[in-house]
Amino acid sequence: MTRSEDVFRRSKDFFPGGVNSPVRYFRPNPVVMESGHGSRIVDVDGNEYIDYCLGYGPLILGHSHPSVTEAISDQVQRTVLLGTPSQKEVNLAEKIREAIPSMEKMRFVNSGTEATMHALRLARAFTGRSKIVKMEGCFHGSHDYVLIKSGSGTLTHGIPSSPGIPEAVAETVAVARFNDIESVKEIFDREAEGIAAVITEPVMANVGLIPPDPGFLRELRKITSDHGSLLIFDEVVTGFRFHYGSYSGMAGITPDITTLGKIPGGGMPIGVYGGREEIMDNISPAGGIYQAGTFSGNPVTMSAGLAALSELKKLDYSILARRTASLSTGIKESMEENGIEVAVNSMISMMQFFPGIRNARSYGEVVSADASLYFRIFSDLLGHGVYLAPSQFETNFLSFSHSDSDISETLKSLRKVIPVAKDADRGKRK
Ligand SMILES: Cc1ncc(COP(=O)(O)O)c(C=O)c1O
Repeated sequence: MTRSEDVFRRSKDFFPGGVNSPVRYFRPNPVVMESGHGSRIVDVDGNEYIDYCLGYGPLILGHSHPSVTEAISDQVQRTVLLGTPSQKEVNLAEKIREAIPSMEKMRFVNSGTEATMHALRLARAFTGRSKIVKMEGCFHGSHDYVLIKSGSGTLTHGIPSSPGIPEAVAETVAVARFNDIESVKEIFDREAEGIAAVITEPVMANVGLIPPDPGFLRELRKITSDHGSLLIFDEVVTGFRFHYGSYSGMAGITPDITTLGKIPGGGMPIGVYGGREEIMDNISPAGGIYQAGTFSGNPVTMSAGLAALSELKKLDYSILARRTASLSTGIKESMEENGIEVAVNSMISMMQFFPGIRNARSYGEVVSADASLYFRIFSDLLGHGVYLAPSQFETNFLSFSHSDSDISETLKSLRKVIPVAKDADRGKRK
């Protein structure tokens, strides 16, 4: 038994399924990791992997970036928690607003889940309406309002809507289809006056990766504005992912509320929601909508976030785009050389491949991909020192620490793995 197997055996005794978040589980057991540096992570047995999961996205600078590590340890010497206003909160908010001007005012929370939960409560209170429209396959965290036809682990583990969500809550959510504006119009035609907000990821990142079709987000903006509903872009994954700012900024579309998480926390727990001052000033104590958090805006997260954003501001995202493109092209070529049809979607620092399908532009298309072949490739790559996202319905991330040689090493391993994985997958289906 490896040390990893041993630790996981003990984990199962304490945690449901042995994990503290379901996306971390995979058959037969997840690898227990111990440390990370740059593009690499190391497991408890000392094996090293090129990491394309990157903690599910926050680590765009790679593991243990020196500036972030130094900022955290410096803050830890001073205190880890104040429970009062602090200068670093203001400094981080300033950086965020400079990069995303539509976040005129904001609140720091501790996770993306909290950010979307509070953004939705705010939208409901602000509009005096209760209905939320979300997109099938978009994941906005694991609270009741949004855990309906969700993505990420819910899709991996086949849980369309979690038991335990009261029917009364589920009835306040209508589900439309991403990249299908007619499905949104149908809901608005039926019940526009009750719709508080449309929430969507501007780029779907929890069913693999699906970019928006031209015009889809712009149409969403128009429909919501026309009917007095708010538009919420959940940029927990996409914020600071493609450039120093939001996806909405790149697309030239201004949502009413933006939610952030992951990257601006520099690897420490964070969520942020923000938008027009007129909306945000309804939150307590400026207004009556209650939201609070012991650890919100804590100085360790603020320090890590400040260091991460300072670094990111200096960096050229086109380097990431070039490496992601060469990884994507290499994967496509290797799969096709082995007679496997594959769709590969990539955007600057994100990438996912979908064996068995030609196009991955919609939820309907990606759920018909050969997820078991993807998983087989993922599993076999572990033995070659590559750690991809463990599910077809997650996204692979690249960091500024990934080098050209990381990419070529990955592709070399992939070429070895694909024929074996393909045969094993076929054998299993017979
Ligand atoms: C788009 C999106 N929103 C919200 C969340 C929830 O964030 P957290 O895991 O920090 O609660 C996630 C998590 O991956 C996400 O991808």
